[in-house]
Amino acid sequence: MTELDTVLAGDSATGTDDTATRWSRREFIKRVIASGAVASAGLYIYGGLAGCARKGAVAGGVERLVSINVNGAVRRVDVLPQETLAMTLRYKLGLTGTKLGCDRSECGACTVLIDDVTHYSCSTLTHAVRARKVVTIEGLEGPNGELHPVQKAFVDELAPQCGFCTPGQVMSAVALLKRNPKPTREEARFALSGNLCRCGAYDNYLNAVMRAATEG
Ligand code: FES
Ligand code: FES
Repeated sequence: MTELDTVLAGDSATGTDDTATRWSRREFIKRVIASGAVASAGLYIYGGLAGCARKGAVAGGVERLVSINVNGAVRRVDVLPQETLAMTLRYKLGLTGTKLGCDRSECGACTVLIDDVTHYSCSTLTHAVRARKVVTIEGLEGPNGELHPVQKAFVDELAPQCGFCTPGQVMSAVALLKRNPKPTREEARFALSGNLCRCGAYDNYLNAVMRAATEG
């Protein structure tokens, strides 16, 4: 049984009533926000990897070794001409915190920052970001592994439901608060409007952004 199965089953890992080992909803959300825990669930929700698999070699298309700055480190990676940033991040660099939902600029699950501006990585060619700075959800981690203040606020407001859209919501909130540390609720709503949530947790996410703006 995976950790997610255990949580969804609503019992402890041992199947006992040992409250010391049982996960609270808050603990589950904390782990989801730290990213990756819902990857397998997301595949069922949004239809799996079909949208990010290599779409067949383009005639004459060959991989080229490029350097890209991801989360403050220069990463060297072989990239196809038509390869999207989402694919490079997830399947070549192992940064699976960036989710893939629609793979066509509609849902926002793949949101990352490029030079501090939100972008849909499913619709950004990796070759286009070679001279720019990419930040994914993993790049928000503090030096000792601590959550970013926005992530903490999301935990405190119990914002995520299934959690699949959460990394994208966090990245949009981080970008907003960088350029506008004290947004109104309407400004926050607008900033997150490119991030769809099938669980309908929009108010919770907004509460979390406003909390982060107040406490940050
Ligand atoms: S995966 Fe939906 S916008 Fe990129
Ligand atoms: S899609 Fe489930 S929490 Fe947003």
